[in-house]
Amino acid sequence: METSDVIILGAGAAGLFCAGQAGQRGLRVAVLEKAEAPGKKILISGGGRCNFTNLGAGPANYLSVNPHFAKSALARYTPADFLALVERHGIAWHEKTLGQLFCDGSAKQIVAMLLAECPAETVTISCQTAPQTVERSTDGRFIVTAEDGRQWQAPALVIATGGPSIPKMGATDFAYRLARQFGLKVVEPRPALVPLTLGGEETLFRELSGVAAPVLARAGTAEFAEAALFTHKGLSGPAILQVSSYWRHGEAVGITFLPDAATDWLIEAKHSRPRTHLRTLLRERLPDRLADALADRLGLDRELGNISDKDLRAAQSKLADWRFAPNGTEGYAKAEVTAGGIATAELSSRTMEAAKVPGLYAIGEAVDVTGWLGGYNFQWAWASAHACAEALAEAHWA
Ligand code: FDA
Repeated sequence: METSDVIILGAGAAGLFCAGQAGQRGLRVAVLEKAEAPGKKILISGGGRCNFTNLGAGPANYLSVNPHFAKSALARYTPADFLALVERHGIAWHEKTLGQLFCDGSAKQIVAMLLAECPAETVTISCQTAPQTVERSTDGRFIVTAEDGRQWQAPALVIATGGPSIPKMGATDFAYRLARQFGLKVVEPRPALVPLTLGGEETLFRELSGVAAPVLARAGTAEFAEAALFTHKGLSGPAILQVSSYWRHGEAVGITFLPDAATDWLIEAKHSRPRTHLRTLLRERLPDRLADALADRLGLDRELGNISDKDLRAAQSKLADWRFAPNGTEGYAKAEVTAGGIATAELSSRTMEAAKVPGLYAIGEAVDVTGWLGGYNFQWAWASAHACAEALAEAHWA
């Protein structure tokens, strides 16, 4: 049986960062990772360049049953802190858009940095090591037994095994099963940052597969100004991925095509260019295939001068709030993250420790804190891991 101060389950973004931070504080850390190598999701993130943080990351960019939960950790480890680390490791980076920071080179550099941050004297990482059982001894120690019979024990256990998004990469609901085993509640998980599917009459929009346009997209109380993309299954693109995290089955998604158009732009065009067809006008501002599809559905494909003001106003309103009724999402297979997870009500927002189970911690995506698209999820992984590592170093047994 190997003995350490902390066992961390999962060598992803949160687990690796926590291991480094705790190891640098002198704690002996055993990291157990199911996959054959650490940080696999980091390697495929940001199209291989890892969108490692967002300069604007703050509590408002996260979904959680308790929107205040993320505040403490995010305030104590900021995007500037992570950027300083990236720079200390000489990793070249750039801001792509909307505060999103990417490596100039490769996401491999972030994994290499996280591994280099783990002191060899204090941190051991065991890959291809899936815990079979996790038990608690009568003196409060956690005992982890791997499938091959090896055992680890420690007074603290950190759940950092992420969420079930992208199961073909080995992602599982292990974190939720373990949390439930220790009596912690789990907020119903669901795929987030995920393409939406269209059915019924709206399947006709699938003929637009591959067409993208800047839009305003809305679901629930959320609204995002980014690009939407029509796919052979429905809707995707950054604007749709963002609203998908807020969308619930049965609800509509509202899309404003031409978000920069003036309120009465069709009436104004009727006065200035009465001989122009509606289709032609739309084609001037939107990709041809999308303009044609919208003109067909508006049913007003004639010269503007021959369309009543009432009908033009109705068309303006429809274009400003086109209602789609998705019949589902593309599921965990295509979801960049999982919303929901270990209930924040069970955890201290300062330490990430479970109130009911002293010594048990949960960090990263396993917790019911879900970021927007654009580097926010990694920032939560770093911040929650940092909060946890600080608390571990202050724990009574450390
Ligand atoms: P993460 O999933 O990173 O790590 C969990 C680890 O636990 C994995 O290594 C897994 O193998 C391991 N594990 C699972 N079950 C286990 C078990 N039973 N025992 C032991 N180990 C186990 N975010 C962002 O901010 N910017 C971006 O650019 C992207 N891009 C992106 C692209 C794609 C395709 C995806 C799928 C996701 C992103 N994300 C992202 C989201 C981001 O990758 C994600 O939120 C973080 O990796 C979460 O970090 P965690 O450490 O919590 O989980």
